[in-house]
Amino acid sequence: AAGGLIAVAFAGCGIAGPGQVSTIGKVDFDKPLAIPPLAESTVDADGTRVFALDAQAGATEFEPGESSDTWGFNGRYLGPTIVAKRGEHVRVDMTNSLDEPTTVHWHGMHLPAEMDGGPHQMVEPGGSWSPEWDIDQQAATLWYHPHPHGETEDHVSRGLAGMFLVQDDAEAALALPREYGVDDVPVIVQDTGFSAEGEQEANPRGYAGGLGDELIVNGTRGPYLDVHDEVVRLRLLNASTARSYAFAWSDGRPMELIGTDGGLLEAPVELDHVRLSPGERAEVLLRVTPGEEVVLQSRMTPEIAALVGPVAATNGGTDSFDVLQVRAADELDPAPAVPEQLNSIPAFDEAEVVTTRTFELNDSFEINGEAMDMGRIDETVTVGTLERWVVENATSVPHSFHVHDVQFRVASIDGAAPPPELAGWKDTIFTEPETEYELLMRFEDYSDPDTPYMYHCHLLWHEDQGMMGQFAVVEPGQRATMTEGTHHEH
Ligand code: C2O
Ligand code: CU
Repeated sequence: AAGGLIAVAFAGCGIAGPGQVSTIGKVDFDKPLAIPPLAESTVDADGTRVFALDAQAGATEFEPGESSDTWGFNGRYLGPTIVAKRGEHVRVDMTNSLDEPTTVHWHGMHLPAEMDGGPHQMVEPGGSWSPEWDIDQQAATLWYHPHPHGETEDHVSRGLAGMFLVQDDAEAALALPREYGVDDVPVIVQDTGFSAEGEQEANPRGYAGGLGDELIVNGTRGPYLDVHDEVVRLRLLNASTARSYAFAWSDGRPMELIGTDGGLLEAPVELDHVRLSPGERAEVLLRVTPGEEVVLQSRMTPEIAALVGPVAATNGGTDSFDVLQVRAADELDPAPAVPEQLNSIPAFDEAEVVTTRTFELNDSFEINGEAMDMGRIDETVTVGTLERWVVENATSVPHSFHVHDVQFRVASIDGAAPPPELAGWKDTIFTEPETEYELLMRFEDYSDPDTPYMYHCHLLWHEDQGMMGQFAVVEPGQRATMTEGTHHEH
């Protein structure tokens, strides 16, 4: 089958093909981890909180003295961390100082489709765009990045990405670390390549897309983080274009997972590793003792690799990385005990499902046999109804399935209940080869029958190739007004 063709093509890349690397024990950790600045905001007379983001080209020295061309929002690389509270009305005045069109999409955000920043909301060079919406979802680690159709991999890998933290009263009442950059730290992980001198190089493409042989965190190559608290909260974001990770601690202590894409779990979960595919987030707690050093790694064991697909599987589990060294101070501020209950996550009642839709991912970068068409609405959802989306990865390689506008729940994986780390709110899910995922979701607000949202593979090269579809959220009985239901020849 076509899966075999991809595997053969990949094997043709040879032993040192993309992805076949291990940087464990080889990273110097000689630079302090950069912390993206908090985005400044003003509050309008009507109470709107206003942020400004400018997409711009610049140059970054990943190594001192070696300049690389990069893009960033309000800076040279990545963007500021936006923080807003549930109940606030926000506006982002986005300007495009690049010399090509781009967009900015609010990944994980519930908001009207015309504010979503997908491929229908392009911002021309020199142009501007001011989406505004009500923050109407629970505290969570979201992010933002461009979404121009066919160019997303390029724009994200150049550096256009940032975090968007939603806060709420329920989370604020919990005894959790939340001092930004001190005991509550963004960890934006990307893979990239560097020349011998330290200049950033484009990633060679494998079946998954571009895979680099080194990691950078928040744009820092070889990062360490000094901590002064007994408990530190790390907000992990896989902002890589193609690579998945199995995050673990170098000394084998458990990963203490407290939150996933859309918010906190009901209770902390101890795991030996946290797997994140592109687009996914995880909040973890790290407990340290005075003076110790521990390294966040991505350790691809053969067992995990078998699920991640041929890149890792064929190299005997050496697709592994040193990510970030954490250095604990000799004196640490004590931290209160972490609450046993973090959130309450009621189950959806499957008996309420009104519509079941199937999404088959195939080897031609298609969903249900069709490539993305900007002029076609693939699915029309009735506002407020419970939907079951059955995502079938019919290929021999992994993908990462993301749905805009909504946080969903995983009802089952090949018929079995999800593990605890997938039992909370999610907007993106790693889909293992030849595996079927049942997702339950409810689109809470009417949007606009003319303007679709996207669902797609978050391996950005796959998305760019057309592994994406469009849906509209309409009132009962209403029809989406684009050419819904028409079929196109490829
Ligand atoms: Cu993170 Cu449709 O994107
Ligand atoms: Cu894919």
